[in-house]
Amino acid sequence: MIGLQWGDEAKGKIVDLLTDRHDVVVRYQGGANAGHTVVTGGQTYKLSLIPSGILRPNVQCVVTGGVVLNPPSFLAEIDGLVSRGVEVSRNLMISDRAHLIFPWHLVEDRLADGEVASGEAIGTTMRGIGPCYRDKVGRSDAIRLGDLYRENLRDRIERVVAHKNKLLAALAGPGCFEPIEPGKVLGEYQGYAERLRPFVADTTAYLLDALESGRRVLFEGAQGALLDVDHGTYPYVTSSNSSGLGISSGSGVPGRYLQKIIGVVKAYGTRVGGGPFPTEQDNATGQHLRDRGNEYGTVTRRPRRCGWFDAVAARYTARLSGVDSLAVMLLDVLSELAEIKICTAYEIDGRKVNVFPSHVDDLRRAKPVYETLPGWRSEISDVRSIADLPPNARRYLDRLSEVVGREVEIVSVGPDRDQTMFAERSSTGAHDRLQPQR
Ligand code: IMP
Repeated sequence: MIGLQWGDEAKGKIVDLLTDRHDVVVRYQGGANAGHTVVTGGQTYKLSLIPSGILRPNVQCVVTGGVVLNPPSFLAEIDGLVSRGVEVSRNLMISDRAHLIFPWHLVEDRLADGEVASGEAIGTTMRGIGPCYRDKVGRSDAIRLGDLYRENLRDRIERVVAHKNKLLAALAGPGCFEPIEPGKVLGEYQGYAERLRPFVADTTAYLLDALESGRRVLFEGAQGALLDVDHGTYPYVTSSNSSGLGISSGSGVPGRYLQKIIGVVKAYGTRVGGGPFPTEQDNATGQHLRDRGNEYGTVTRRPRRCGWFDAVAARYTARLSGVDSLAVMLLDVLSELAEIKICTAYEIDGRKVNVFPSHVDDLRRAKPVYETLPGWRSEISDVRSIADLPPNARRYLDRLSEVVGREVEIVSVGPDRDQTMFAERSSTGAHDRLQPQR
């Protein structure tokens, strides 16, 4: 299950619904930059790194080596669940290959974000995600979860801290940086290591065994494909492969095991942070979507930029992620609008373009070419079947599906599990497998 926009597509709800039909749910990239809100049994859970499958006791949740893990925030997430009676001791597993976020990564995120070569800040979530992935690729300053249990941990931390203290003092400027105390970091991380020990495993071996023995595994993408570090709107992206392409590298599971890919989109568009967003509506329409859709970040509470559905972008990411069918979320947010627009092409320097530009400067110049559809102007949050939606709502879904090039299989009209509709038939033949158990 992959988000096809810039994240926040309400993927948590879909994962939660589909979890019933799976034995294992996997989070394989990103970190605590992502946030999932799941509403179940009248209770709202806000999860960040732990898969929302944790709310089902019979599902094994796996956090693989492709993620970056901030131990205190991960432990706080565990504690929050335990305090509400959610079982986490047996059904949560974290890869010893996961890279760890340290206090210096948070400082680096703060110091580096304004210094993007292209001028505009990325507007990161300030969770140290980019700096930790940078160290992962750089190797010399990286520390993985498995390293916490090795005898040379003290040496490792001392070496890294000595290097980071030099770097950060230079970056911050004279007098603006308090050197990091290696002994303090060591003590803290040894404490985290003890608490995390019961969860640590070789998740690659576990997943390969699980798949080879026919267990059903759901891969839960974080962020959205337009934030993919290689294929998104670079450099206004996150630091991992958040499109469907990241599943294998992040989890160690080869593509041959992927049987069905669901692309999740909002019925409109949102983006948090910097970077171009051709269909952005920085006006009353955008504000209406923000208010009605409660478009404020789960993790950072930042107001999200809002706009019309961009089918050029979604078609690109649906193809890129190998998507079979779409889940269209938050359709009810459009209910009050008299007219709804879909961007079906861009105009760049006077030329009509249907292909998503590979360079962010071209995307900045892209003017959306819109099709305008009539709204339905009635509330739909109580509708329980796609056939019962107002004709204009169905027309909007049909057109969206046509321009993206994928069938709509799931439609959501509210946060509750019940406010979800499944298409009657699926050309992929997998519809039955997707119906949640009641
Ligand atoms: P980072 O992942 O914190 O480095 O942030 C990089 C970019 O990705 C920023 O524009 C963030 O706003 C965006 N981003 C990261 N995680 C999410 C998410 O879960 N939803 C939406 N945007 C995100």
